[in-house]
Amino acid sequence: KMTLKKICCIGAGYVGGPSCAVIASKCPAIQVTVVDLSEERIKQWNSDHLPLYEPGLDDVVKSCRGRNLTFSTDIDTAIQEADLIFICVNTPTKNFGIGKGRAADLKYIEAAARRIADVSKSSKIVVEKSTVPVKAAQSISNILQANVKPGVKYQVLSNPEFLAEGTAVNDVLDPDRVLIGGEKNSLGKEAIEALCWIYEHWIPREKIIVMNTWSSELSKLAANAFLAQRISSINAISAICEATGADVSEVANAIGTDSRIGSKFLKASVGFGGSCFQKDVLNLVYLCECLNLPEAAAYWQQVVDINDYQRQRFANRVVESLFNTVTDKNITILGFAFKKDTGDTRESAAIYLSKYLMDEEARLRIYDPKVEKSQILRELTHPCISEDPSRVSKLVTIHQDPYEAAEGSHALIVCTEWDEFKTLDYHKIYQKMLKPAFIFDGRIILDHEALIEIGFHVETIGKRLSRKPVHRSIAPSTQ
Ligand code: NAD
Ligand code: UDX
Repeated sequence: KMTLKKICCIGAGYVGGPSCAVIASKCPAIQVTVVDLSEERIKQWNSDHLPLYEPGLDDVVKSCRGRNLTFSTDIDTAIQEADLIFICVNTPTKNFGIGKGRAADLKYIEAAARRIADVSKSSKIVVEKSTVPVKAAQSISNILQANVKPGVKYQVLSNPEFLAEGTAVNDVLDPDRVLIGGEKNSLGKEAIEALCWIYEHWIPREKIIVMNTWSSELSKLAANAFLAQRISSINAISAICEATGADVSEVANAIGTDSRIGSKFLKASVGFGGSCFQKDVLNLVYLCECLNLPEAAAYWQQVVDINDYQRQRFANRVVESLFNTVTDKNITILGFAFKKDTGDTRESAAIYLSKYLMDEEARLRIYDPKVEKSQILRELTHPCISEDPSRVSKLVTIHQDPYEAAEGSHALIVCTEWDEFKTLDYHKIYQKMLKPAFIFDGRIILDHEALIEIGFHVETIGKRLSRKPVHRSIAPSTQ
């Protein structure tokens, strides 16, 4: 059986960092080097302030950094010394040219493959961990073979990553399964065995699924499309709930107890965010279009369209509830990350909600426990969000404290399901706000009855809430 002494990971991001830190901690005999073009990122990985927040990550990194885990910008040396190379670079949606807005931009994958081909002096197993369109492994292989040096052999495997942010360390430590796609010939099988050997340090063999490369690549896109589809499905149901008086949480619970459906990923929300779902569904849509399968493309496109609709619908409800105008009103946004327990804001619903409210000239007071101020401003001044970035400095303030953020606000919107938002002192917040004080719970995490009792006007996703009359003398309570 082939054993590996040194491995290298190209791309020190949300996937490369946590997954290779866990590999290093579970495989003390393997030297793991994580490399990146970004000096800044590598500097942070080598510091006490890691470039990303993930529960448990600090401990894993500290336990093996300097032992068998290294972060470096010396990409060439790391490639030359490695027996196996993970490619974990970003594959964002193309924002130009052919496939603009849908296709994955494979330039970073290709650059990594060319670098491997240019500098390698010995044989390598090249593992594609980034999420890619089907047949990307073929392109990597073609680039490597076209530039191969004498005596060097390459095997390309697909090994998509299923970790979710906020739970990345646990997901890598205890995955539902590991997928490995490779060739069925003897060299292919040998490479697959070598990669299996790494994972078998902590994952039972039964959980490692081996398949052909194209199935493996497609399985990743399909898994994310199915997960995103569940959220869009329940969000589409939430619109019906709001129009009828049904309660989406009750409906989700009812359908989720059917073991064929299952209870996970049925939480209605202001819309899914994150760097993966929209990108990967669009990637699948584009793949369908290229394969001349327009009906399949239209089917998956709806998953993204419903998500856009959900965000816009929620923003409309905010404006409508605030007497159809939010111009110059102070609106507190609680949570800017795309989900709790991460500082990542990529494609966060909060960005779009902020955009819609800024378009209405609302004044936003934003608080998030983990997202840096500069990061929020970077998102909001992006050309896709603000045509005129100077408006952001006029309309937006960032706060370090939720109570301070709520000061003098007309409304408060929960955009991220941070646990700490459940236990804020809403009596105190109510005192600080203008009246009538509105709360919009975009994550269905607050105790709505208790908030109504305090005096708030409460709106949430997928449920109509009864409210206390504002002027008791004119409309006495029927209790
Ligand atoms: P990221 O942007 O956080 O990290 C990618 C890193 O690669 C960056 O630091 C970038 O500087 C570096 N890089 C790009 N080109 C390089 C090159 N040629 N040489 C060296 N470094 C280079 O991205 P991410 O979130 O880690 O995602 C990486 C891939 O994994 C994507 O394909 C994504 O779809 C997939 N994925 C992401 C997640 C997630 O939760 N973020 C989960 C599963 C899969
Ligand atoms: C996702 C996949 O879960 C993971 O397997 C893949 O590797 C990368 O993409 P991630 O984007 O990190 O992971 O987080 P995830 O937990 O999937 O949440 C994505 C978005 O959906 C978040 O904005 C989240 O708040 C939202 N969501 C999730 C819902 O709105 N409702 C749900 O029921 C679940």
